[in-house]
Amino acid sequence: MKIFLDTAIYEEVQQGVEWGVVDGVTTNPTLIAKAGHDHEEQVKRICGIVGNVSAEVVSERKDDMLVEGRRLASWHENVIVKVPMTPDGIAAGKALGRDGIRVNVTLCFSVNQALLAAAIGAYIVSPFAGRLDDINEDGMRLVADIVSAYRQQEIKTKVLAASIRSPVHVTQAALAGADIATMPFAVLKQLFNHPLTEAGQKRFLEDYRKTQEAKPVAGRSEAAAAKR
Ligand code: G3P
Repeated sequence: MKIFLDTAIYEEVQQGVEWGVVDGVTTNPTLIAKAGHDHEEQVKRICGIVGNVSAEVVSERKDDMLVEGRRLASWHENVIVKVPMTPDGIAAGKALGRDGIRVNVTLCFSVNQALLAAAIGAYIVSPFAGRLDDINEDGMRLVADIVSAYRQQEIKTKVLAASIRSPVHVTQAALAGADIATMPFAVLKQLFNHPLTEAGQKRFLEDYRKTQEAKPVAGRSEAAAAKR
């Protein structure tokens, strides 16, 4: 399962890429607004350091989405155009796909919607797990069901688990067979954490330091001799 960052903050992407664990980025209008930069400028900057950058259309009608999607795709070859899971979004996605543009169908909340995304040959479908949990449904069950339906139907569209809120969601997405999980930077940082790793590393370093202190060092023995 590939790890994507769900952010439009350049510094977060840069850190994830430096760690060597991030393969892509998903942005949306909310995240762009939060980052507080010009949309085009920010997407281009992020595309400069990582592939697979989803940028979302904000028009509502198919023809407008098409124009907008083509414009987003022209910004950089790494752009994947995100269209909403609406009839217009799906129709626009189909047309964008015909242009050779990779499409991510977002706001997916059911297996049937995922089948529609597959029917237009979308590159990615994005089920929003956390938002289903919010309304007392099981978001990760949906991710697992889409993966299972796609496998049975030999569908190539990638399943991207989105709206991930916690490290346990990431584990569940991997076990459900998701191709990609996109997560906030805070969740990515949490993936590193384990109390036994921290305790073990502390102990190793302390023990190593003890071996260094036990070594006879020329300067130190001279100082000790002078004291005597
Ligand atoms: O990738 C989709 C994501 O941005 C939505 O997350 O936490 O707003 O439901 P959230």
